[in-house]
Amino acid sequence: MDPRGKLALVTGAGREGRIGAGLAGRLAREGADVIIHYRSDEEEARRVADHVGQYGKVELVRADLSDYRQVAEMFQSLTPEIVVNNASVFRKSSLPPELPFQEYMAHIDSVLRQNAEGNLLGPLRVTEAAIHKLLGEQKQGVIVFIGDASIYRGFAYPVDRAIYAMTKSYMEHLDPYTREYGKRGLRFGAVLNGAMLPTRNTRPEAIEVMKRQTNVPDDILDPWLGVEPVADEMMHFVRSDHLNGTRSLVDGGRVPWSPDE
Ligand SMILES: NC(=O)c1ccc[n+]([C@@H]2O[C@H](COP(=O)([O-])OP(=O)(O)OC[C@H]3O[C@@H](n4cnc5c(N)ncnc54)[C@H](OP(=O)(O)O)[C@@H]3O)[C@@H](O)[C@H]2O)c1
Repeated sequence: MDPRGKLALVTGAGREGRIGAGLAGRLAREGADVIIHYRSDEEEARRVADHVGQYGKVELVRADLSDYRQVAEMFQSLTPEIVVNNASVFRKSSLPPELPFQEYMAHIDSVLRQNAEGNLLGPLRVTEAAIHKLLGEQKQGVIVFIGDASIYRGFAYPVDRAIYAMTKSYMEHLDPYTREYGKRGLRFGAVLNGAMLPTRNTRPEAIEVMKRQTNVPDDILDPWLGVEPVADEMMHFVRSDHLNGTRSLVDGGRVPWSPDE
């Protein structure tokens, strides 16, 4: 699909310097009209929109993706031809028996709910809304999932991230969508990130561990790959009408590593 003049929605794109904002910027630079979706911070999302707006048409939309009504409302008046499911939650768990049993179960329930809502249910609500609108209007569409490379490299994460990883692993199961909807003009693909950007909680020592553990020399690839490789892969998928159901790893070919060790 030629992105020029197409409407593109990027979820979870309202945070400055994060991947979603970078993907929105790239889509705008490539000529798409971009809708920046955010949840919590309107002011920050406006700053992202002002920046992206240098390159093309931009709108902001707010929705909590854990509420299907808000997802439906968001899609009420728009039918994006490009949907980028970027929003996610990275919630780790404590390990048994760090907490007393009752407290542990309450904690695990909250970890399960947050990861499931942020990584699985929210993106699938968005996807189903997009499919319904696109098929109803007989439009072609491209739906890109931003995933996690580690889960495709032997579930490499330590057990405190097992629930997060499991809630991202549904991206292995895009084939029923591609089989049914591919012939009706819809394409689905996943871009599976390695270590692109540290989170706010990543400790400096963790970065040193990562450098030691990685099988890629520092002078070839920085430990953090940044946003542009994800944007490159996303654009490649958007443009390539011959691709459907593709999962591409963007992790520099690294062996899995565990940043908190
Ligand atoms: N950073 C990396 O190195 C890395 C590595 C592997 C995979 N990835 C994947 O790449 C993507 C972007 O990563 P990132 O680190 O840039 O993410 P991020 O900074 O954590 O941003 C994710 C965004 O998703 C939004 N979000 C979460 N739950 C939501 C909900 N229920 N409704 C609406 N919005 C919701 C958050 O909104 P609020 O700001 O309101 O909370 C947040 O702005 C994610 O899919 C992630 O899994 C990243």
